[in-house]
Amino acid sequence: MTAAKLLLDCDPGLDDALAILLAHSDPALELVAVTTVGGNVVLENTTRNALELREHLGFTDVPVAAGAAGPLVREAKNAAEVHGPGGIGDVILPPATLPLDPRNAVDLIIETLRSAPGEIHLVATGPMTNIALAIRQEPRVAEWAASFVIMGGSFTRGNTTPAAEFNIYADPEAAAEVFRAGWQVVMVGLDLTLQALVDDAIKDRMLALGTLGRELVVPLATFWKDPQDPDWGGQAVHDVCAVAYISRPDLFTSVPARVEVETAGEWTAGMTVTDFRSSIPNALVPVKLDVAGFWDYVLGCYARAAS
Ligand code: RIB
Ligand code: CA
Repeated sequence: MTAAKLLLDCDPGLDDALAILLAHSDPALELVAVTTVGGNVVLENTTRNALELREHLGFTDVPVAAGAAGPLVREAKNAAEVHGPGGIGDVILPPATLPLDPRNAVDLIIETLRSAPGEIHLVATGPMTNIALAIRQEPRVAEWAASFVIMGGSFTRGNTTPAAEFNIYADPEAAAEVFRAGWQVVMVGLDLTLQALVDDAIKDRMLALGTLGRELVVPLATFWKDPQDPDWGGQAVHDVCAVAYISRPDLFTSVPARVEVETAGEWTAGMTVTDFRSSIPNALVPVKLDVAGFWDYVLGCYARAAS
């Protein structure tokens, strides 16, 4: 069976790094390009992390291009309090020696999708600024992508504000344009990703991965603990869920919906207003995860990388 090709636009980021590891280690996936955006931390650090992960994991033939440092119109926000100022917690990787692709991320996205219409899945796990700019520059991106999957949004509550999830909150105008681009957005939101928690049992299975587990996977998957959550059940591997959807959509129960992004609300900016009753859906919303199957799949792929 030929591997499914994907381009990953990301803001590494603890869970973005774990998503990159999955995209690289799943034999049913072929990572064809990585693009970076400012988000969890500044663009310089998300890009450095992507370059260092590329060499550390060994996908050195995959281009990495940097994109937007900040949102379309608003002030840049970050989540450094969660991911650490460097973006990947206390993980220290060898400095990258291979260069960044000379193209801007937006040009790399357009050229990559144009080169193989209908063959390459587009996955976005950070603010959608690069995606919106690519659609503006070349609307046919919405036709060329084999599918478009995001980690972002939610239909019940936010994590950055009570109403908004970080990736959408960081650039609501970009997200609003992306949801209206005419394609189906697979919205892997918090309602789904908060089912994928690294509890003690999962942590132990990660530690059993040997050096990769001890030195990379566990530090990324357990760096942050919410001091305001008395019922903390572990870090959610949000972005891993978006990549997993490409290879294993059978692990997800999904429902069509119309999603519009609030951009004017004083208290609700970045809210993904989700109408499951709409007759004009523009999104497919995974609502339930086969949690045991998910972890067997993800940790099985990581074990391949570890060996
Ligand atoms: O809200 C979770 C999302 O925001 C994840 O993509 C995480 O990496 C951060 O970017
Ligand atoms: Ca992310």
